[in-house]
Amino acid sequence: MAGLNSMDVVASAVSACTRCDLCQSRTNAVPGMGSGESGIMFVGEAPGRNEDFRGRPFVGRAGHILTEALEKAGVSRKDVYITNTVKCRPPNNRNPHRTERESCKDYLDAEIRLLKPRIICILGNVALKSLLGDDGITSKRGSIVKKDSLVYFPTIHPAAVLYNPQLAHTLEQDIKKLFTILDSDNGVIH
Ligand code: URA
Repeated sequence: MAGLNSMDVVASAVSACTRCDLCQSRTNAVPGMGSGESGIMFVGEAPGRNEDFRGRPFVGRAGHILTEALEKAGVSRKDVYITNTVKCRPPNNRNPHRTERESCKDYLDAEIRLLKPRIICILGNVALKSLLGDDGITSKRGSIVKKDSLVYFPTIHPAAVLYNPQLAHTLEQDIKKLFTILDSDNGVIH
């Protein structure tokens, strides 16, 4: 999409967006937020109830799990960039439809182009589908995937831990591994 040439412009465009029907039921659109300094961008699915209410990504229960996993890896949430595949909450937290993902894809593409993350951490199957056209999070998680000169690291969605607390360990181990890869490669991810 022409004109999405700074993060502020992307955030303003997201906040005013009427490209799909989700704009009719949202309280707030939820642009990405955080810092690109660490070189990591996290991409989730779509805002939930708390995010819709506050206009910020991952501020509910799933966000708490993500923040905790980051802290266990020694990383502060403010040092990473966090966004979603779809920027408005789907009614009743249903999965976003393909058409909604497609309507919103320009914003995610612009965030990636502007931030130039060294690694994009994909959180769960919806983001995996949007970014890699795949829905095999269980087999893809915990390792680097390269596509079209971008580097991805898929892991489970933090909300999965709410349904199966044993998955907290999986998420935490994956996130530790992600930052170990980032720290150890001197800018070259093999
Ligand atoms: N789940 C997501 O995928 N994104 C959010 O922002 C919150 C919950």
